[in-house]
Amino acid sequence: MKKSISCLVLLSLACIASFANTSDGQSDGCKIYDITHPIKNNMPTFGSLLGAKDVIKEFQGKATITGTITVGTHLGTHVDAPSHIFPGLLGQPGFTVDALDLKTLMGSVLVVETPKDKNITSEVMQSLQIPPGTNRVIFKTANTDNRLMDTGFFVPNYTGFTATGADWLVKNTNITFVGIDYMSVAVIDEIVPVHITLLTSHKIIPVENLKLDGIAPGNYNVLCLPLKVVAEAAPVRCILLDAACH
Ligand SMILES: *[C@@H]1O[C@H](CO)[C@@H](O)[C@H](O)[C@H]1NC(C)=O
Ligand SMILES: *[C@@H]1O[C@H](CO)[C@@H](O)[C@H](O)[C@H]1NC(C)=O
Ligand SMILES: *[C@@H]1O[C@H](CO)[C@@H](O)[C@H](O)[C@H]1NC(C)=O
Repeated sequence: MKKSISCLVLLSLACIASFANTSDGQSDGCKIYDITHPIKNNMPTFGSLLGAKDVIKEFQGKATITGTITVGTHLGTHVDAPSHIFPGLLGQPGFTVDALDLKTLMGSVLVVETPKDKNITSEVMQSLQIPPGTNRVIFKTANTDNRLMDTGFFVPNYTGFTATGADWLVKNTNITFVGIDYMSVAVIDEIVPVHITLLTSHKIIPVENLKLDGIAPGNYNVLCLPLKVVAEAAPVRCILLDAACH
């Protein structure tokens, strides 16, 4: 009996080991990059000098541990839904995260690096020369180089879209997936106009606070699956797959 139990344990360890092997994505040349920030206690959160408190609480029971997670809808890597900016739409079907078009959140994506000394204005958008037909773009900005998510507190002068940059994107491209590497797609003093511009399109999904350390510019496939929450935003797990993945 004892022997068979230890065999089982060994087998499941082997199983876990083989899972671990495939999840680093190295087998068959297909590489997977996890571009999601881990959700954890004290992680930086919008507007706070202290970080998010009491996100995860674990309780010791008689034999096992169970826990609760309490996350703001905009904590960590997350998507925004149209009702984020239109409170009147919150209760209505179609405007919350559960109704977002998953096709927008999966497929080919271009990672572009933006100039380090500028926000994403119309001039910057124009200068990026994003090829026509591009539907999904992840903007890798100075936020990643400056490691803003490693500071432990909210940094207000982060890089984001200005109102002119968002306008330009809506008018001149077919981009529906707008990824960025800090808590908001918009610079702090233009949060409202940028979100109105992007979200009134009813097609564009801002994917905020992506973890882009070590991600080279170029073409990938992206897969982002948000928690199916009836809310104006929700945490999302995002991965990039390189061209060798099918
Ligand atoms: C946007 O899509 C339309 C309709 O498919 C197409 O005619 C147009 O060339 C596209 N524009 C860009 C910039 O991708
Ligand atoms: C943001 O503010 C910090 C501290 O004042 C400064 O060192 C940094 O250069 C600023 N970054 C930007 C992008 O303005
Ligand atoms: C981007 O905009 C923010 C907010 O206006 C500002 O604090 C920051 O310095 C700007 N960044 C750059 C690189 O100009």
